[in-house]
Amino acid sequence: MEIYRVHILALVSILIFSPVVHGWGIDGHLTICRIAQSRLSEAAATAVKKLLPASAEGDLGSKCSWADNVKFRYRWSSALHYIDTPDNLCTYQYTRDCKDGNGVKDRCVAGAINNYTSQLLTYGSAASQYNLTQALLFLSHFIGDIHQPLHVGFTSDRGGNTIDVKWYTTKMVLHHTWDSNIIETSEERSYDSSPDGLIDAIQKNITAEWADQVPMWEKCSRNLTTCPDMYVLYSKILSNHFPQLVSVLKS
Ligand SMILES: *[C@@H]1O[C@H](CO)[C@@H](O)[C@H](O)[C@H]1NC(C)=O
Ligand SMILES: *[C@@H]1O[C@H](CO)[C@@H](O)[C@H](O)[C@H]1NC(C)=O
Ligand SMILES: *[C@@H]1O[C@H](CO)[C@@H](O)[C@H](O)[C@H]1NC(C)=O
Ligand SMILES: *[C@@H]1O[C@H](CO)[C@@H](O)[C@H](O)[C@H]1NC(C)=O
Ligand SMILES: [Zn+2]
Repeated sequence: MEIYRVHILALVSILIFSPVVHGWGIDGHLTICRIAQSRLSEAAATAVKKLLPASAEGDLGSKCSWADNVKFRYRWSSALHYIDTPDNLCTYQYTRDCKDGNGVKDRCVAGAINNYTSQLLTYGSAASQYNLTQALLFLSHFIGDIHQPLHVGFTSDRGGNTIDVKWYTTKMVLHHTWDSNIIETSEERSYDSSPDGLIDAIQKNITAEWADQVPMWEKCSRNLTTCPDMYVLYSKILSNHFPQLVSVLKS
């Protein structure tokens, strides 16, 4: 599982620091997970295949939105998709910010990543008391979410859900634009309206244009556990530019 973990972290870092803007709706999560799965070591790939439900037919990407689908059935999980930071304060601190609406500690996307990573590290031990299929589906989804700047945002605008913008001619909330519209428009314009072409293009860039940056993205994967501080940092840097972004979308 060690190897698996290292690779999924590296992968996600690759996606996030890449200059492309990704959405994190169904296609965004699918893209992240397809690329991650293609870069797993043999041992990790075998473990992932064993953990995936049969209906996935071996494709992690097909299950990467599962966590969004069960948000209402598993109400307790809905706070695990984001981190609220104090309004107008462009910093993040785990101990201050990682809690749910009732103030229960560790209940945020960074806490959930730690939680499901440590569950997955019990893979292969007979004593594991966790449902590791769920742990895998949660972890691969949350790693995507934590890199979406609007999943680490100010408390009162609810991650851009209260900010209205116009996406071409359609009125949208900023969160949805970022999660879905940007990526879908890019697929429509350049990739035959399907994620496949986008995935290929990103894979090519990872092995060519961006190859010399990959070691830097992977560095964090040498951390003993996970690197949520680093993921959050990049989301915060981006979201600190949102006032400008919003003014562009509103004009
Ligand atoms: C950790 O995982 C368990 C099992 O899914 C869940 O009940 C718990 O709420 C999770 N806690 C966090 C902080 O993710
Ligand atoms: C583990 O979770 C998956 C996905 O929710 C579910 O289909 C499966 O039945 C669970 N396995 C056990 C042993 O509870
Ligand atoms: C690939 O890299 C080039 C050069 O940096 C960039 O213009 C292009 O948008 C990238 N493609 C994708 C899908 O990220
Ligand atoms: C690396 O792991 C340590 C110990 O779990 C954690 O405190 C730290 O925040 C992690 N580093 C990053 C960059 O997230
Ligand atoms: Zn989510």
